[in-house]
Amino acid sequence: MSARILDGKSIAAEIRQEVRLEVEAMAAQTGAVPCLATILVGNDPASATYVQNKARACKEVGITSVRIELPADLSEMSLLHEINRLNSDPVVHAILVQLPLPPHINERRILEAILPEKDVDGFHPSNLGGLLVGSPLFVASTPLGILELLDRSNIVIEGKHAVIVGWSVVVGKPTAFLLLQHHATVTICHIKTRDLAFHTRQADILVVAAGKPGLVTGSMVKEGAVVIDVGVNRLSDGRVVGDVEFPEVAEKASLITPVPGGVGPMTIAMLLKNTVDACRRKWGERCGR
Ligand code: GUN
Repeated sequence: MSARILDGKSIAAEIRQEVRLEVEAMAAQTGAVPCLATILVGNDPASATYVQNKARACKEVGITSVRIELPADLSEMSLLHEINRLNSDPVVHAILVQLPLPPHINERRILEAILPEKDVDGFHPSNLGGLLVGSPLFVASTPLGILELLDRSNIVIEGKHAVIVGWSVVVGKPTAFLLLQHHATVTICHIKTRDLAFHTRQADILVVAAGKPGLVTGSMVKEGAVVIDVGVNRLSDGRVVGDVEFPEVAEKASLITPVPGGVGPMTIAMLLKNTVDACRRKWGERCGR
C-alpha cells in the first residue's frame, strides 16, 4: 500500500478562512475583537519562530495579538506578575506562554497562574481535569488539531485501536483522552514501554509525539494504518523531519501526515479557534448569555 497524504496545510487553511469569517461576523454583531497575548521568555530560535507564526496567523484572520518578549534571566515572580496583569486586562481574551521556559522557572506554577477562561493552550489543571470528565473550557491545540484532521478526512475513530507514542501533557495525554471520548481503544506508550514495536503494530491509528527522529520505522506499522506524526525535529543539515521514517512508513500506511505540513499548521489553526471561543465566551458572559 502507498499512503495518501493527510494534508494538514490545506485543511488548516480552510479552518483559518472559517475563523476569519467568524471574527468578522462577531465584530459586526458585538464590536468585540478577539485578542491573544503571547509570552516568550528568552531567545530560543525555534520558540521565537513558533510565536512569530502564531502572531502572523492571528493577523491574517483579524485577531489582535500582543507579543510580550522577556529576558531569559527573568525571575519567576516577574513572570507571574506579567500573567496576573494579563489575567486582569479585559482587552486580552487569551494568554499563551510559549514552552519550554528557562530551567529556573517552574513551568507548572506559571501555567497554573493563567486564568482557565484565558488558557487557550488548555494546560491549566482545571482544563486538563475538564478533559478527563468531558467538559473542559479549552483543549490543547495540537490534540484538537489531530482530532480535526481525522474528522475532516472522514476517518472513523469509534472502535479503532489508537496507539499514542509519547505521554506529554502538551500532546500525548490530551490526545489519548480525546480519542477515548470518541470511543477508540487507546494505548499510551512512553519512554519505559517494553517492546514499542509490538504496540505500534496493533495500531489502526498511530500518533507519534516523542521528539525522536526516525523512531517509528516501516516494520513497526500495521498495513493500512493511519499515521499521525507530531514530531518536529531539526537535523544538523537543517532539514526538519518528524518522528516517523516517512518513505518506508508511507509504503505501509493508508494515510500519513507529512512533516512539515501535517499537524503543525493544524495546531495554529486550532489556537485561533480557541482564541475566538475565549472572546465569544467573555462577550456572552457580559450579556448574560
Ligand atoms: N511548545 C511546544 N508546543 C507548544 C504549545 O502547544 N503551546 C505552548 N505554549 N508552547 C509549546
